Amino acid sequence: MMSRLHLFEFNDSSWCPGFVRDSVVEVLGRVIAGGDIPESAAPVLARFISRAGIKRMLDLGSGTGLTTAAIVRAADDLGQDSMPEVILSDLMGGREAGGVAEICNGHCRFWPDPVNAMAVDPAIAHDGRSFFCVFHHFRPDEAIKVITAAVDSGKAVIIMEPFPRNPLYLRVLYLPSLFAYLLNPFRTRRHRLLKFVFTFLVPLLPFIGLWDGLVSTTRIYDEEQLRAMAVAAGPDYRWEFHRLSLGSFRELNFFMGFRGGGKDG
Ligand SMILES: C[S@@+](CC[C@H](N)C(=O)[O-])C[C@H]1O[C@@H](n2cnc3c(N)ncnc32)[C@H](O)[C@@H]1O
Repeated sequence: MMSRLHLFEFNDSSWCPGFVRDSVVEVLGRVIAGGDIPESAAPVLARFISRAGIKRMLDLGSGTGLTTAAIVRAADDLGQDSMPEVILSDLMGGREAGGVAEICNGHCRFWPDPVNAMAVDPAIAHDGRSFFCVFHHFRPDEAIKVITAAVDSGKAVIIMEPFPRNPLYLRVLYLPSLFAYLLNPFRTRRHRLLKFVFTFLVPLLPFIGLWDGLVSTTRIYDEEQLRAMAVAAGPDYRWEFHRLSLGSFRELNFFMGFRGGGKDG
């Protein structure tokens, strides 16, 4: 496997205009929520919830909330009897896309203030933390802080990445992403005109999205790297890595941590 790189991405650069960062995150949420990843991820999330006994889950780096909402709904549709309340949150504050509450069968709501995964406000009551398509954004020193912050406060942890560290796995997302970029100026809640101009008149946004997607695939932490960080942070946790193949060049990666091992099952 190639070495992990941490090249520049537009969507996590503070100097990058907000409408550009928003576009990348909006398209990511729509592409993931509109495909089959939520149904595939749902059984893993359901097992995490029941094993850790989660009553309230804090989702970090939720972006628009669409990805998490779709996975939560798919888990709810499996007939899980005790779906927790899910608090969506982001470093940029509430960036909710329309319809999140309906998508997740009413189980999710957005925390309006910014939430930093490295230093979560203790006032936000929860017992588990989820990271969907976000953990690769953290540099190694930040990733350690994120895991340590969760473990030190006794929270269960689930991390999902939609591909392993290999740019070839982005191929299947090219076309859906292009369509999502073309539709986004008409569906977005913010900066419609700017998004229209930089999609159709100066078509930069789809290329920026392509760059960020490719860079993301080179930033993914592999099992060994995740375990090294997690075991150091939470030696009394039980850590599990799962690779879920969805066919050729399609794979979801999950990493989960349970305090004291969690419930069996
Ligand atoms: C690639 S987006 C993923 C969004 C969402 N999880 C999804 O799958 O659609 C990464 C998100 O992480 C957020 N983020 C970056 N650093 C963060 C931090 N330290 N704490 C919380 N959120 C962070 C960004 O603002 C951005 O919305």
